[in-house]
Amino acid sequence: MSRLEQVLGCFIVLCGALLFAHSAMSASNPAQRNSCVQCHSKLPASSFYGVKSHSWTGSVHQMHGVTCDKCHGGNPAAAQENQAHIGMLGSSDPHSTIYFKNIPATCGKCHGAEFYKFTQSVHYQMLESTGKGPECVTCHGSMVTKVLRPDDMVAVCARCHNERMAIAPYVPQKAKAVLLLLGESKALLADQERLHPAPRSAGTAQSLDEAGIALHNAKLDWHKFDLDAITKYLLEFYDTVEKLPRAPASH
Ligand code: HEC
Ligand code: HEC
Ligand code: HEC
Ligand code: HEC
Ligand code: HEC
Repeated sequence: MSRLEQVLGCFIVLCGALLFAHSAMSASNPAQRNSCVQCHSKLPASSFYGVKSHSWTGSVHQMHGVTCDKCHGGNPAAAQENQAHIGMLGSSDPHSTIYFKNIPATCGKCHGAEFYKFTQSVHYQMLESTGKGPECVTCHGSMVTKVLRPDDMVAVCARCHNERMAIAPYVPQKAKAVLLLLGESKALLADQERLHPAPRSAGTAQSLDEAGIALHNAKLDWHKFDLDAITKYLLEFYDTVEKLPRAPASH
């Protein structure tokens, strides 16, 4: 994707978000003019093709106008199926945007920071060489943008990280603990933001900013699977929260 296309893409997503905010109920929502969404949403939810599109409905991507064609290609202006599907390939074709090895790069067009961290991981190298290993869809699902629950994370990682295969078998339980801690940290930051409503003193505002940055860095380092780095950022987060006044400061 060229720089211009990227900028245009961002612009369109932005316009979509604005339109959506202004008239969530009206037909000006771009997703409603998108032939992929229109046709696929009529396919039965019980069918393979239906399940996929119905799971997209209600996702963060839907709310931000990230329609099917953004990940799959094809022509969302064409009403006929065979026209719309031109340029779109199924997941078993190595040239497809959703062929498992290509998925990180497809997501990375919009999520560059997470993709960059991921390329620094041993799992990325594995994916490239053996075609095995966790990638974006493993933890987020393809269209839902959720995050695995801690117990599901254990199951996913334990496929390889177990005593029998002897590949760092400590990983699943540690990953679960770190994910739980991240969840608690997110909740704590939300509590602190409620406890210290704006306008805030300069000191409080700075501590909240620093806590937010530490949390963001912790999230990013998940993409490198660097459990120690995530833990380090979370400890930094708690240190910063400690500095906040116990009761809301008076202004
Ligand atoms: C008029 C209806 C219609 C439109 C428009 C349409 N599709 Fe489909 N699509 C289908 C049906 C029906 C299938 C089921 C399989 C088939 O017919 O080959 C399908 C299959 C698919 C598949 C699975 C292909 C595979 O090889 O496994 C994907 C992915 C897909 N569509 C994405 C899209 C995208 C992206 C767009 C818009 C650019 C789009 N569709 C537009 C009806 C439509
Ligand atoms: C954020 C990117 C993204 C968006 C948006 C998206 N998909 Fe997908 N889709 C994927 C990925 C990645 C896969 C392959 C991995 C999987 O099956 O979970 C996939 C798989 C599919 C499949 C199975 C295709 C095959 O060949 O196995 C269908 C059908 C499909 N999507 C339809 C849709 C429809 C319809 C929409 C819009 C309503 C949509 N997708 C929106 C990323 C996306
Ligand atoms: C065309 C651009 C685009 C593509 C391609 C794309 N996304 Fe997104 N994604 C967005 C936007 C826009 C948002 C909502 C705003 C944000 O959080 O950045 C979002 C949100 C998310 C979120 C939730 C973030 C949150 O704050 O809750 C996750 C997780 C995510 N995407 C994962 C993926 C994955 C996995 C893929 C590939 C299968 C993918 N995205 C492909 C644009 C994209
Ligand atoms: C090992 C599991 C795992 C894998 C694999 C993974 N992620 Fe994530 N991702 C996470 C976790 C955990 C978070 C933090 C979620 C939260 O806010 O609780 C996250 C957050 C995100 C966010 C939101 C960031 C934010 O600041 O809110 C995006 C976007 C995202 N991931 C994209 C990707 C992309 C793109 C890939 C593939 C290159 C990917 N993820 C692979 C676990 C994973
Ligand atoms: C398909 C197999 C596979 C899966 C699934 C897998 N890994 Fe790995 N992982 C490996 C391999 C192979 C290594 C490299 C081990 C080595 O270099 O000794 C590795 C290395 C690691 C390391 C570095 C370990 C060390 O002590 O150096 C961490 C951390 C890690 N994985 C985390 C995870 C997490 C978290 C998950 C689940 C989201 C996961 N892995 C899922 C195969 C896998």
